[in-house]
Amino acid sequence: MTDLLIDTTDRVMTITFNRVDKKNSFTAAMYAAMADALTSAQADETVRVVVFQGHETVFSAGNDIADFLQAPPVSPDVPVFRFLRAISSFSKPVVAAVCGPAVGIGTTLLFHCDLVYAGDNAAFSMPFVNLGLCPEAASSLLAPQRMGYGRAAEALLLGDPFLAEAALEMGLVCRIVPPTEANALAQRQAQRLAAKPSSSVLETKRLMKLSQANAVDQRIADEAVIFGRMLGEPAAKEAFGAFMAKRQPDFSKL
Ligand code: COA
Repeated sequence: MTDLLIDTTDRVMTITFNRVDKKNSFTAAMYAAMADALTSAQADETVRVVVFQGHETVFSAGNDIADFLQAPPVSPDVPVFRFLRAISSFSKPVVAAVCGPAVGIGTTLLFHCDLVYAGDNAAFSMPFVNLGLCPEAASSLLAPQRMGYGRAAEALLLGDPFLAEAALEMGLVCRIVPPTEANALAQRQAQRLAAKPSSSVLETKRLMKLSQANAVDQRIADEAVIFGRMLGEPAAKEAFGAFMAKRQPDFSKL
């Protein structure tokens, strides 16, 4: 798999999105490989931290729309939902470096990361409504909590993007740096985490997440059912058809 590069060095597993020609959009095969990587990192005592990174021009354009049309994720066992369960329940720290567009799951996966470093070109968006869909990755729960209801409503109901400064202000991002420095900063922070006593790191993350671990699991499952249903409905078909044909969607009758 060249669309995803997975490397473990000095107790840090780095997962690099490497499909820049398609804006690092995620195929089912990429979700499966990411889910498997997280499962193996969870079990491997020599891995203490996982880093997600893209390219300095693009983090991820979210789900690969053509792939979605070919194999819609309608059951809970499909790779995308396996990946979401793996990242949301991952007990070790997760660090992300985000530059350029982070669309859909490119943004929502960040709600499950512990430290996020953004290039000053980062642009976050969750345009599920514009695609005739609903939120995923428990973002219907986590976005209002992290952003406040009003900003979450602009992001989720209108599908409006927000930039690195706004993400910093709401605490989704820890620091903004030039895009050429984001991946290196994420690596340095991951190395710092990997050098700390792992039991303290694990217990601290567990305790910070404890109050809503079950609610997050449940929301991922609830959203998945609705998301799967909506994928087969006319609004999503129109949105995806329009994207593939490079035209504007027409929701006037939907
Ligand atoms: N799925 C499949 N292909 C995608 C894609 C996606 N989510 N996002 C981009 N691509 C492809 C484009 O079709 C294009 O392919 P082509 O060169 O074969 O025509 C290529 O990646 C470059 O995309 P382009 O739109 O020309 O790049 P851009 O720099 O102008 O815009 C984005 C970048 C990310 C803003 C834009 O591609 C976009 O909005 N993508 C869709 C995001 C989306 O709706 N994701 C689904 C969320 S659930």
